[in-house]
Amino acid sequence: MRVTHLAVSAVLVLPLVVTSADASAGPPPPPVSLSSVLPAPVRAIPDPAASFTLTPDTVITADGAATPIAEQLATAFRPATGFPLPTATKPAAGAINLRLTGRGTGEAYRLVVTANRVDLTAGTPAGLFNGVQTLRQLLPPDVESDRVQRADWVIPGGRIDDRPRYAYRGAMLDLARHFHTPDEVKRYIDQISRFKINYLHLHLTDDQGWRIRIDSWPRLTAVGGAPGTGVGGEGGGFLTKGDYRDLVAYAAARYVTIVPEIDMPGHVNAAQVAYPELTCDGVAPKPRTDMLVGYSSLCAGKEVTYRFAEDVIRELAAMTPGPYLHIGGDEAHSTPHADYVTFQKRVLPLVRKYGKTAIGWQEIAAASPQDAIVQYWHEDPKMAKMTGKVIMSPADRAYLDMQYDRLTPGGLNWAGTTEVDNAYSWNPGKLLRSVPEERVFGVEAPLWSETLRDLDDIEFLAFPRLVAIAEIGWSPRSDWDSFRTRLGAYGPRWTRQGVRFYSSPQIPWS
Ligand code: ACM
Repeated sequence: MRVTHLAVSAVLVLPLVVTSADASAGPPPPPVSLSSVLPAPVRAIPDPAASFTLTPDTVITADGAATPIAEQLATAFRPATGFPLPTATKPAAGAINLRLTGRGTGEAYRLVVTANRVDLTAGTPAGLFNGVQTLRQLLPPDVESDRVQRADWVIPGGRIDDRPRYAYRGAMLDLARHFHTPDEVKRYIDQISRFKINYLHLHLTDDQGWRIRIDSWPRLTAVGGAPGTGVGGEGGGFLTKGDYRDLVAYAAARYVTIVPEIDMPGHVNAAQVAYPELTCDGVAPKPRTDMLVGYSSLCAGKEVTYRFAEDVIRELAAMTPGPYLHIGGDEAHSTPHADYVTFQKRVLPLVRKYGKTAIGWQEIAAASPQDAIVQYWHEDPKMAKMTGKVIMSPADRAYLDMQYDRLTPGGLNWAGTTEVDNAYSWNPGKLLRSVPEERVFGVEAPLWSETLRDLDDIEFLAFPRLVAIAEIGWSPRSDWDSFRTRLGAYGPRWTRQGVRFYSSPQIPWS
């Protein structure tokens, strides 16, 4: 059960050009403008004299690698408009034209909306996809409905030039503490990609369960993915290799790269239950579904440890087209320091051996890794010794599993409570004195799932705070007053999509 504040905006909304057939959707939202977009674009110049109206005759044009993105746009707009929105190859007046310029390698895009055409251009398909996410927000919220709505489908005129502040804008979902099905993960990918999040880190293994099939160690999932392996003895399950590959492809079609995590040398109780030889004394530990951390460790002095690590890394790398493989490394409180360093110095190079770049939680800094990316999550003096790239995930700002306040159903509060303003009001380039802006690779919003049983639980904690982290990662400036206004105007879109977001009292919801 979810409790949300029913925030009814006291602000008068302008008479709407939209008439919604969906009475459950609440009061009519304000008209959209170029300044409504989340995350805020680098530059948006409205042209109040111009606007483009979608009609039953509107065509979407694209060629080459832009074609599937045009088809995604048409698929997004067809249900609510009821328009056929056919795709064609030649750019035309009266059309929405998607074009790859062939110049540039990044994720930038340009959107120009005039009275008689919409032109979306980018150097890469990822840039076009980003532009499409912006365009979706420029139609009235009813466009999110899955049934035909009577509305004037007006796109406000003007021009947007946009590109990301950071290359890495991530979300993390924990499948280990509670397993979440491929369909749930896909729905999360749909949602996060709306906000130009381009990496999804999957935390696949932990003390409770092991959620990814590894053929050379089949008991990992036969035992560690069995029913009852979620926190509190709930749930269970695992991804087959087919499931995983399908998720990777689904994410890739939305320009989201999967970053799989195998957490080592701590957080390995499930692996040791399945394979007792992975403990130092060879005795199988008891299965554990409580929420304690820091009690399990692989055995740095046994060769089987490294055979295990290499097999897992090899199989995972073979089914992961993305460049990164996350090897955990956090909270190894029962691994002696010297063993921890020994372990990481042998295992980190294995990631490179199989063609990937390692990411590890900040604790891997203790092993002075050469080319790994470190993920910061809380104060740690060892971070100051690092010279490489850093992903910022400060637990008291970016952990989506922290409660909004003490009354939040579900969630944890060991790093404090995090209302929306707290999630938004920080600067990744200035957070740590030892990590200057040029070493910040990006930001990530982790969602640990000790208390999260289903998609409603996930969405309630992720939204709206995920959007705060997305904007910090994308936009060059932050502006809380602007952000909260835009977020408030986004609410009706989530309502129409059936997303159970937290109606924070800080936000003027439409
Ligand atoms: C972590 O929160 N243990 C990375």
